[in-house]
Amino acid sequence: MDVENPPSPDPNAHSRRRFLQRTGGATALAVLGASGQAAAVDEHGRFKADPFSLGVASGDPLPDSVILWTRLAPSPLTRGGGMPDKRVPVQWTVAESEDMTPVVQTGNVFADPAHAHSVHVNVQNLDPNTEYYYQFRTGGYRSPVGRTKTAPEVGATPEEFRFGFASCQAWYDGFYTPYKHMAADELDLIVHLGDYIYEYGIGPNGGVRDTAVPQAYRSEPTTLDRYRLQYGLYKSDADLQAAHASAPWLVTRDDHEVDNNWAGDVPQDPDKQTVEELLKRRAAAFKAYYEHMPFRLEQKPDGPDQKLYRNYTFGDLVEFNVLDTRLYRSDQACGDAFTVDACQKRFKENRTILGDRQQAWLVNNLEASNATWDVLANQVPFAKMDFLRGAADGYRMDQWDGYVADQVAVKNAFEASVNNPVVVTGDFHSNWANDIKSAQNESKTIGTEFIGTSISSGGDGSEFSDINGNKEGVFGKHVVKENENVKYNNNRRGYTRCTLTPDEWVTEFQVVDYVTEPGAPVRTDKRFVVEAGTPGLQEP
Ligand SMILES: [Fe+2]
Repeated sequence: MDVENPPSPDPNAHSRRRFLQRTGGATALAVLGASGQAAAVDEHGRFKADPFSLGVASGDPLPDSVILWTRLAPSPLTRGGGMPDKRVPVQWTVAESEDMTPVVQTGNVFADPAHAHSVHVNVQNLDPNTEYYYQFRTGGYRSPVGRTKTAPEVGATPEEFRFGFASCQAWYDGFYTPYKHMAADELDLIVHLGDYIYEYGIGPNGGVRDTAVPQAYRSEPTTLDRYRLQYGLYKSDADLQAAHASAPWLVTRDDHEVDNNWAGDVPQDPDKQTVEELLKRRAAAFKAYYEHMPFRLEQKPDGPDQKLYRNYTFGDLVEFNVLDTRLYRSDQACGDAFTVDACQKRFKENRTILGDRQQAWLVNNLEASNATWDVLANQVPFAKMDFLRGAADGYRMDQWDGYVADQVAVKNAFEASVNNPVVVTGDFHSNWANDIKSAQNESKTIGTEFIGTSISSGGDGSEFSDINGNKEGVFGKHVVKENENVKYNNNRRGYTRCTLTPDEWVTEFQVVDYVTEPGAPVRTDKRFVVEAGTPGLQEP
């Protein structure tokens, strides 16, 4: 943190108090110190410690239904979460207001050790475009209260829709302050674009968090138990829990939920990990991911497969096409390098980032959509970005520029049938705003891309992106200068907030100046407008 610029008073103090009440704040932090060795449940089935240490969540909202999630884990940093090896009954309640009255629906489910005592409830027969509150109960404990919201009906025209998106939250790199601010916004939807966990081992003091982390965390996760531990640690964060409790989420995965830069069946380092080992690892990673997210049953993995691509519609205002650009992709071209000049392989027609089925699904959706705004919830940068200084062009092979055939196919679908395509992107640990140009005509703008920065990955950051730890911002500045379609770069941590109406889309890049200490205030670093019917970025 910059000691010369202490944080200003928090303008969101009131709403923060509300969501701390909602999530139980301090309790969530206390679990880190728990040994978790004692039996968690007495002979009457009552918990000796709070089993709701990982908070609550909701997700994948439809006009009449939403998924509610929790996981019982009185001791989330130990194998098994401190739970007995048996099924435990859990009661859930949905109500109209935050004090949990009047009750709308209630029911019972079992938390099963086969699923890490996680619970996914598909609540149905709800009213469209309506705010609800929910809570779980078990063994003498009540969970924090979560807020959720159903989608507007098909054909309805909401006056406004507010969503935020986030990605990349290396736990040991920084505090999750952006989530605290995001929670206070009480959005209609939060979209997570991946790197929810990182698969690296964690040191004894938890990086910048300076918190004791048990020995079991030193190794890199490859097994189900170890991935579960990773989620237990990440989800113990009170600010992350507050964001989950503030709105329904729509999540997708990038690489680090499994292994850095994996591609389909190809591991990061094929010399160190066989395909068979990667598939086993993928199955473990996918299962733990499902267990910790508010997914519908359709997203339940089948061994090393999990269908994450899906679409969610909010009246006729916006449709989200949630993508999976890891599971079906060809291996990165030209050695997976950052700035590759003259890589011919990236143009090969048989190379894909979406896979045939997902691409056909996406093109179909784009053709069929009646929404004003068609969004791609996407992992890696979509628009063309030349990263090499000077006359030569250099492209990063891990993003869509390394998969030109699919990039062109999606651009053509945008141009053929989409009024207002907007791509929202994670992965890059920095903020960028890009015009998307026609594949046939480089001077024609056909859509917009907002790349959102990381929640914490990369630490405090700097005003502009740079490489090799240099803080001059040379890299970010030259990319904006050399790419006519790239309009903005910033390298602070934060989240991105989007407010949609039938006439315009407003994006606000919300940043904090530090994450290596808790408590940073939030500020809007940049605001862009997209007018419906006029593709491309505008500055208000
Ligand atoms: Fe990341």
